Amino acid sequence: MDGIRVIGGKPLNGRVKVSGAKNAALPIMCATLLSDGESHLRNVPALRDIDTAAELLGVIGREVEPSPPRVRVGTGDVIPEAPYDVVKKMRASIMVLGPLVARYGRAKVSLPGGCQIGARPVDQHLRGLEALGAKIKLEHGYIYAEAGRLQGAEVVFDMPTVTGTENIMMAAALAKGRTTLVNCAREPEIVEMARVLNKMGAKVSGAGTAVMHIEGQDELHPFDHAIMPDRIEAGTYLVAAAAAGGEVTVENVPVESLEAVIVKLRAAGVILEPSGNDVVVAREGRLRSVDITTSPHPGFPTDMQAQLMTLMCMAEGTSTIKETVFENRFMHVPELVRMGADIETQGHNTAFVRGVERMTGASVMATDLRASASLVIAGLMAEGETIVRRVYHLDRGYEHIEEKLNGIGADVVRIHSLGP
Ligand code: UD1
Repeated sequence: MDGIRVIGGKPLNGRVKVSGAKNAALPIMCATLLSDGESHLRNVPALRDIDTAAELLGVIGREVEPSPPRVRVGTGDVIPEAPYDVVKKMRASIMVLGPLVARYGRAKVSLPGGCQIGARPVDQHLRGLEALGAKIKLEHGYIYAEAGRLQGAEVVFDMPTVTGTENIMMAAALAKGRTTLVNCAREPEIVEMARVLNKMGAKVSGAGTAVMHIEGQDELHPFDHAIMPDRIEAGTYLVAAAAAGGEVTVENVPVESLEAVIVKLRAAGVILEPSGNDVVVAREGRLRSVDITTSPHPGFPTDMQAQLMTLMCMAEGTSTIKETVFENRFMHVPELVRMGADIETQGHNTAFVRGVERMTGASVMATDLRASASLVIAGLMAEGETIVRRVYHLDRGYEHIEEKLNGIGADVVRIHSLGP
């Protein structure tokens, strides 16, 4: 198994460029199933999850040419089935369900199952499709969905779910008549999905607010689309630079969609100067502790919680961090503690981080994508050598992370065959 070795204590300096957004590219790859013909995606990051999405479209029967930053999806004979072997690699695979049942009248998609950061059910996806007229049954670990033509309807989500909203948006785009979605997720990736569906000929309004209207069409067209920059990758580099010190220009930052993160970083004493699409980040002296509560967009993103917690480990004072989106997203805590952090947890979703003056490198285990990034950041802050194991999580979401970090002066090396 691969790991990453980080030698800490080096300030970062220079320029680093943010790649295309994984969480926008994945649903958009699924949207290609809504039409025949050839769709083209640009600015797609080279990531393991993108390979998995390409594999899934291929298994379903579409011709796929993944050569990031470009992905071409051509025609093919579709079998509307997503097998367990692929879905188990990536939960986001559930987003083929809506397009398949809308376009082919039936779909068989493996249930994604649990994952490290919590149970993560898909009940909202299924209830949304049922509201549009699909008949759903669960058998042998699979979702079986059947429908004649889906019918526009009102769907009220119990909670704002990102992939759930995207799945139902795609299905509604081919349903007969008008669909109203209530209590939608408002993440920038939802707005991006609306842009793509509108390019395809659907009429989606209200994306980015809690209520969306979608006029379904009889047919949709293929599209050409450049994926927006990854706000979480951008936020991770802002935090990495603040953690290590120095002066870094992060290029291609979607500043508006990172507002909640930028506000907290500034409150902690990080100097952030946006100029066009770039942000110059620097730090003078020790940071101050800030409190963070994660919530759906436009609140503080759960996908930045681990990175911010790490930054707080060496800030002055005590920071209270509350995770409200997922029930088990503190798996980085024991690893940070092994590196010298002083963190006490209360239940599964509150952590008190008392800033320490020094952390030391250790061998640590990555448990999920964002936790892995947080451990690499901890490695940059700590004295000596940190080895982050199970680094395959990082390859799911951070394009060329070693090259990017080394390009701004870090000392990061991938090491192969570390053992389990
Ligand atoms: C997406 C992101 C992920 C991010 C998360 C929250 C992608 C590919 N992934 O995940 O990086 O951490 O949003 O910003 O875009 N829930 C249910 N039933 C459902 C669906 C969700 O109970 O049917 C719950 C979840 O367990 C969770 C909350 O709703 O507690 C929000 O999850 P959701 O927004 O659906 O996350 P994902 O779309 O899976």
